[in-house]
Amino acid sequence: MATPKKVYQIAVLPGDGIGVDVVDATLPLLQKVADNGGFSLRFQSHPAGALHYKATGAALPETTFEAARAADAIFFGAMGWPEIRYPDGTEIAPQLDLRFRLELYAGVRPVRAIPGTPLPLADPRAREVDLVVVRESTEGLFASRGKGEVIDDREARDTMVITRAGCERVHAFSFRLAERRKRRGRPGRVTCVDKANVFVSMAFFRKIFDEVAARHPGIEARHNYIDATALDLIRKPWEFDVLVTENMFGDILSDETAALVGGMGMAPSGDIGDAHGLFQPCHGSAPDIAGQGKANPTAAILSGALMLDWLADRHGDDALASAAQRLEHAVDEVFASGRVRPFEFGGGDGTRAIAAAVAGNL
Ligand code: NAI
Ligand code: MG
Repeated sequence: MATPKKVYQIAVLPGDGIGVDVVDATLPLLQKVADNGGFSLRFQSHPAGALHYKATGAALPETTFEAARAADAIFFGAMGWPEIRYPDGTEIAPQLDLRFRLELYAGVRPVRAIPGTPLPLADPRAREVDLVVVRESTEGLFASRGKGEVIDDREARDTMVITRAGCERVHAFSFRLAERRKRRGRPGRVTCVDKANVFVSMAFFRKIFDEVAARHPGIEARHNYIDATALDLIRKPWEFDVLVTENMFGDILSDETAALVGGMGMAPSGDIGDAHGLFQPCHGSAPDIAGQGKANPTAAILSGALMLDWLADRHGDDALASAAQRLEHAVDEVFASGRVRPFEFGGGDGTRAIAAAVAGNL
């Protein structure tokens, strides 16, 4: 096992809109668990995003990219603003650039029904929801980003790309994740979500899933089509453990899974590769509530816990793993006690109030 490093350099990219608010709310909490845990986090903020693009012409400056690459981990808010676009009509999206350039192939999006939070599904089993969507994040339909074509204003094309190497690494990651979750009491099941009934690219994605599954006999491997999965996530989400899917499908499904546990403000994520890790709430810059102090910072705080857990694994540093747990428990306790009710749940508690309640539990 590696010797713990003790001082971790974190590149912070707050970005646009509520990305800035939720990052501001989370960093002091991370600092607090570090201070109490005997390790140190050095945060360094860097510019990027839609407003930066508007001001300078660069959405992700090279200096920011290099700092992100050099850091031990990247903590990210949200980027993008619907009115700020490239000349081809698409939005700036440095998060996508970072995923491709740093090979952050596994988009890990866990959701868990935290006791005390209101859930949209009436079935009491919705309380048992505890699943992870693993979104392949370096190819699929997103391989076409910046390469799509419009022919004579008559026809438009984007191309899906699925490679053997891309599938092998994301499927293997998903089985390892299921094994790890099984050790913590989860069922140990991976569902391959695809459209293998129609597209050869998806049949190939499934074929490689089956090859990787054969190397992990301790984990149950299932298949589900994407449309049926959209249905089953509402009908019986408690049956899922780990789901692995193509980039575009994962983008869509992970918003659906966020809704299962209350909304975007409850859904954390990690974009993980073999050499780098980026952690951010699943949500965007939320222009409809930006600047009002209403954003729920829970997703960002839980993303911070994911970051600590990932660093713990990578550096063999148990202190970070216990800090991650303390942070998660502090969040759980805030909701279990009914002390806060975010605007997202129809309550009156904003970003600061929620972060303060979590801090009070640390
Ligand atoms: P969004 O995730 O920003 O917002 C969707 C809905 O959820 C809105 O009603 C918003 O108010 C609500 N919401 C999101 N986060 C919340 C929070 N923490 N607390 C309470 N409510 C929350 O998605 P939208 O509106 O489609 O996109 C807005 C901008 O963000 C766009 O420019 C988009 O491109 C960008 N975006 C960026 C992402 C990223 O940086 N990773 C991810 C998704 C969108
Ligand atoms: Mg999305």
